[in-house]
Amino acid sequence: MFPTKSYGIIGYPIGHSLSPNLHNWAFSQAGWPGVYFGWKIAPEKLEDFFRAFRVLPISGCNITIPHKVNSIAYIDEISDAAKKIGSINTLYWREDKLVGENTDIIGFTYPLKGSSFKHALVLGAGGAARAIVTGLKELKIPSITITNRTYEKARQLADFFDIEIIPWNKRMDCEADLIVNTTSLGMKGPDEDLTPYNKEWLQGRSGLVYDIIYTPIDTPLIKDAEEAGWKTENGLTMFIQQAIASFALWTNGLKFPAEEAAKLISALLK
Ligand code: ATR
Repeated sequence: MFPTKSYGIIGYPIGHSLSPNLHNWAFSQAGWPGVYFGWKIAPEKLEDFFRAFRVLPISGCNITIPHKVNSIAYIDEISDAAKKIGSINTLYWREDKLVGENTDIIGFTYPLKGSSFKHALVLGAGGAARAIVTGLKELKIPSITITNRTYEKARQLADFFDIEIIPWNKRMDCEADLIVNTTSLGMKGPDEDLTPYNKEWLQGRSGLVYDIIYTPIDTPLIKDAEEAGWKTENGLTMFIQQAIASFALWTNGLKFPAEEAAKLISALLK
């Protein structure tokens, strides 16, 4: 099969992304004539990239840091969910219109569907936190609290979404049964030995610790939560489910098998 459709992910840097591995595997197993690249696009080249996107034309794209917000200026339409989050991670064509969508929210909520938490605590208030809070609201979790090292950033999100706020140094006082890490603490790199939430704060309580990091799968937070008897969810399911949602937008609704995809990605992470 000769590939006729180009896809890719733009970011800066882009070297760490596993999206090309996942989507190229998915295209071949679905028999879709696509090929997916990793494109390193510097912020000052973003406008040029969008011109190229329309001229070539490219069939679809994922967007990662630092372009998730600034790309909105160059598209024709944005979904309601993406507008609320204020960022996009997927581009696709609807007839001749270039549409921006945010499938991170679909990926994040996927493992939480059908559960009934009373109180969620969101650690961090960066770009990822906006999608996470939107997802928690969609799940109708009655009480949501946000905390962040830089208080002002948490306050902006708390005001926008009408949720509670607790100072970073008081986060252990929040009686949450769902704790979501959106900070970079525990991620491969300079922060990999760090945790945003101490093990002793988890002891004597129970619930779910959800770390949206998947590099590595077992962050210090996930290990501590398991040892303290909490349920855990890492970022791998979110990563795969956001990819499945993007893939469907590009292929008239085709899907790829989540379990096989998880095996592929886990093997690459080893
Ligand atoms: P993303 O788009 O992935 O959310 P980001 O916007 O850079 O990335 O946000 C990173 C988050 O990790 C922020 O909430 C950041 O806190 P600040 O707003 O105070 O910078 C948090 N973070 C990063 N390093 C941290 C550290 N050492 N301690 C606590 N929080 C940290």
